[in-house]
Parts: sequence; C-alpha cells; structure tokens
Amino acid sequence: MKMKKLVKIATLAAFTLAATPAAWALDTIKVGVIAAFSGPFADYGKQMEGGIKAYMAQYGDTVAGKKIQIIVKDTTGPAPEVAKRLAQELVVRDKVDFLAGFGLTPEALAVAPIAQQAKKPMIIMNAATSVITTKSDYVARFSMTLPQISAPMATWAVKNKIKKVVTLVADYGPGIDAETAFKNELVKGGGTVTEAIRVPLRNPEFAPFIQRIKDAKPDAVFIFVPAGEQSIAFMKGYRERGLAEAGIKVIATGDLTDDHVLPAMGDATLGVITTFHYSAAHKSPENAAFLKSFAATNPDGGRPNFMAVAAYDGMAAIYEVTRKLNGKIDGDKAMEILKTIKLNSPRGLIAIDPATRDIVQTVYVRKVEKVGNEVYNVEFDQFANQKDPGK
Ligand code: PHB
Repeated sequence: MKMKKLVKIATLAAFTLAATPAAWALDTIKVGVIAAFSGPFADYGKQMEGGIKAYMAQYGDTVAGKKIQIIVKDTTGPAPEVAKRLAQELVVRDKVDFLAGFGLTPEALAVAPIAQQAKKPMIIMNAATSVITTKSDYVARFSMTLPQISAPMATWAVKNKIKKVVTLVADYGPGIDAETAFKNELVKGGGTVTEAIRVPLRNPEFAPFIQRIKDAKPDAVFIFVPAGEQSIAFMKGYRERGLAEAGIKVIATGDLTDDHVLPAMGDATLGVITTFHYSAAHKSPENAAFLKSFAATNPDGGRPNFMAVAAYDGMAAIYEVTRKLNGKIDGDKAMEILKTIKLNSPRGLIAIDPATRDIVQTVYVRKVEKVGNEVYNVEFDQFANQKDPGK
C-alpha cells in the first residue's frame, strides 16, 4: 500500500517536472534578439524582427526536433548599458543559446564581453564598425562593414572622374570607418578629400554643413549617415540649397538610400549613386522569395531593407548550426560551424571568412531610379568577393 502511494507520488512528480519551464527548455532553442524597438532607431529592431519572421515562415519553427524560440529585447537605444544588461538577463535568466540582433555599434561593443564570458554565439545583424568582430571570439557578422562598402565607392568615384570630394559622416565608429576607408582609396586613385565633416549621431543639424559643402565646390559629397530619418533631412537640404544645380553629386553608402525610407524620400534621391550589399530591387529567385515572405509576415512592414536581410541570413545560420549540432548547442562547436557558413542570400552569395568571422560578399554599385511609380536602388555594377579591407 505504502509502496503504491510512493510510486504514485513519484509519477506525479515526474509529470510536474516535465511540465516545468526548465524541462520544456530542453526542447527549445532560444535566440535572444537585442535591438532598438522604440526611440529614434525603432525601425532597426522592427526590420530585424521582420526578417526573422520572414525566414521562419519559409523554413518552419522546428529544427532538429527543437522549437526555435525568439526572445525580443528593446534597448530603446542607442543605449549600450541597457544592451549589456539585457544580454546578461538573456544569458543568466532565459538561458539563451544565441545572442542576435545589434543594430547599433555601441550596443554590439557593450555586449561582446558578455558573449565572450558566457561562450554564446553572437550573430550580428547590422552593427557595421570593422572592429566589432575582434572584440569576442563568439561574434559572427552577417551584415556588412563600412570599410567593405566605402572603399568600392571611392574606386568607382575615381574611375568616373570624381576626384575632389567632401566627406560627411556620423561621428561614431561606422562613420569614422567610412570616412577613413573612402579617403584611403580615393587618395590611392589620385583624388583628394578637401574637407572631412563629422556630425553627431543624434539629431544632426545638416543645414550649416550643406552650405559649407556648396561653398567648397567639390565634384561630389560622400555621405555615411545611419539608415533612417537622417537621410530624409540631408537630401531635403541638398535639394533646397541647390547643390545638384551647382554640379555637386551625392555619392554614399547605401544607408543613405535605405530601402525602407526610400519611398518617403521620393524624387529628391533620383540619380544618387551608392555602394551597398543589398537592394530590394536585386533580381534573383532568392530575393523574390524573401520579399514575398516578408510582405506576408509583415503586413504593415513596408519595404524590407538590408537589416531585414541580414536578420534573415543570420537565422539561416542559426538553423544550420542547430541542424549540424543536432539540437545540442555548444558555443565553441557553434563557432566552428559559423566560420564555414556559405549562403545563397537574397543579396547574392555570402560567406563567413573563417579567419575573421566577418562577412564576404558582393558590393553593388546602384543608382536611384524610378521603377514604375516607385524609386529603387537599381544595381548596375559590382565588386565581387569583398572582405572587410585591412582584416
Ligand atoms: C552601426 O551603428 O553600426 C550602424 C547603424 C546604422 C547603419 C549602419 C551602421 O546604417
């Protein structure tokens, strides 16, 4: 009698255990996504989440018998301290298998030491300052680096007789990287940067700088500003102050003509030349499938941009690692697999360089043109197999 009761209690206990979150977690792969979902950079998180949803809608939410669980955390950033605290919570409390997201460089830099200490793979879906991958052995980048994008812009400029350039960049990691790589390449080709302007990351006031650029009479102005509203402000000033009429061209990294804000910028951007790794107008079956899935899973999401694509590819990498490790994620083993990833991305073929864990990809030269009634970045030239220069 006593024995029977004991067995009954034991069975009950086992059942209860199986139903607790801890046991349930064994059947789950957790991905903690850290990005800004509110504040001036709210679009970054939304684009990344949109790309993740698009991927999961296409490829399902179960890999190697495990459910993929996405845990989204809002930094409200740029807020490196918040990003760091959220990463700590994700590691300690939620026991995530992967850290992912990271729109802004300062937030990625703040989290890298946590990834290192916890041995958690950190999948970068945007943050693009070159140095980020050197800050932890557990970082792998699926987006781009500013030097990788900016050096080809200078090469193209020199080839097209643009020799005298004023640069204008956001005054933080990616901006300094863009300014340096562009200048180095331009000077190599016989060009000169006559003035290097840096503007604050938050709420820059472009008007006085635009006048300065006009007075300097360069062949072109080279721009890096973080994707979003700032592009609208810059292009508006450029048109209003008559720089185009003065013969000053705009050349930029594709952040300026980001697909998500491009429709709102409209005709002011026609003719702008940029270099970048992704355009929504890229013609391939993979991009067509991505656009379709993004539209279906993000009915109010507008046009997906490069951050959505990097998130989509980052998910493909997480799925590949999970498959290869048969659902048992170990940080070091995961990194060995991440170093060998090659994907047929919506942007074209991409690979991770095993020596640096940074992305190798084609950089396209594009021009803003009307396609039907809408403006798009239309690709017309390319630089294949671009690594982050200097790595
Ligand atoms: C970055 O902070 O690394 C960053 C942000 C926005 C961009 C590119 C890079 O468009």
